[in-house]
Amino acid sequence: MTISIRFRPALLRGLILLSLAGTAAAVAPPADDTKARVAAGKNRFDALCVSCHGAAGTGVAASGGGASYGPRLAGRAELDPSLIRERIVHGKHGDKAMPPWGTVLDDEAVEQLVSYVRLLAATAPQAAAHLTLAPFDLADAARVDAGRRRFAKTCAGYCHGHEGSGGRAPDFKGRDDLPPEVAFETISKGRQGAEVMPPWGAAFTPEQIWELVAYLKHLGQQQP
Ligand code: HEC
Repeated sequence: MTISIRFRPALLRGLILLSLAGTAAAVAPPADDTKARVAAGKNRFDALCVSCHGAAGTGVAASGGGASYGPRLAGRAELDPSLIRERIVHGKHGDKAMPPWGTVLDDEAVEQLVSYVRLLAATAPQAAAHLTLAPFDLADAARVDAGRRRFAKTCAGYCHGHEGSGGRAPDFKGRDDLPPEVAFETISKGRQGAEVMPPWGAAFTPEQIWELVAYLKHLGQQQP
C-alpha cells in the first residue's frame, strides 16, 4: 500500500486568501504560545522530527523508502492541538509508524513541540519553509511603538490608512486571524493579490519588519 500526500487546490487557495489583503480563511494564531516556547519547539522538531516530516513540516514522500515517511504538517489548519499532542505522546502504529515520544520527553518539551507544530499547521507550506521566528516579544510596548511610527510614515500613506483603517487595503483592527510569521513573510516579500502589496524586504531590516508585525498584532487586538 502506498501513502500519498494529497495535493488539494482548495487548501492552497485558502492559504493564499490568508494574506494581509485577505479577510477569509481565518486561522486563529495560537494565543498562548510565547515566542520562547515556539522557538524551543522548533529546535526539538529540527532534532527529532524532520527526518520523517521534512524541514518545517513540509513532509517526506512515502516513496523515499525506509522508515522515513511522515505526512506534511505545514498548512494543515485542520490539525487539532489535542490530536497533535496525542500523536506526539503516544505515536500511532499505522502502515508507517509515528513513534511515541511520551516516555522520552517531559510535559514541557511536548508542549513546546505542540506550539511549534500548531504554528506550522497554521502556515502555508511555502511560507513554513522560510519561517522566521520573531526575535523579540511582539507585545513589547517599545517595539509596538517603533512599528507604529514606521507604519504611519510608510504604510499608512501608501495604502493602509491611519492606524491601519480607512485606506485602500483592508483594515487591521480586529484582525486576530493573522499569524505573525505570515505577516512577516508578506511584508518582506509582498503579495500579488487583486492589488499589489509591494515587498519591503529590501527597504527594512528584519528587525524593523518585526516591529511592524508587533504593531499589526497590537492593532489586531483592538475593536475594528
Ligand atoms: C519515523 C518517522 C517519524 C518521526 C521521527 C516522527 N513522525 Fe510524526 N508521523 C509519522 C507518521 C508515519 C505519521 C502518520 C501516522 C498515521 O496517521 O498513520 C505521523 C503523524 C504525525 C502527526 C499527525 C499528523 C496527521 O496527519 O494526523 C503529528 C502531529 C506528528 N506526526 C508530529 C511529529 C512530531 C512533533 C515529531 C517529532 C517529535 C514526529 N512527528 C516524529 C512519522 C514520524
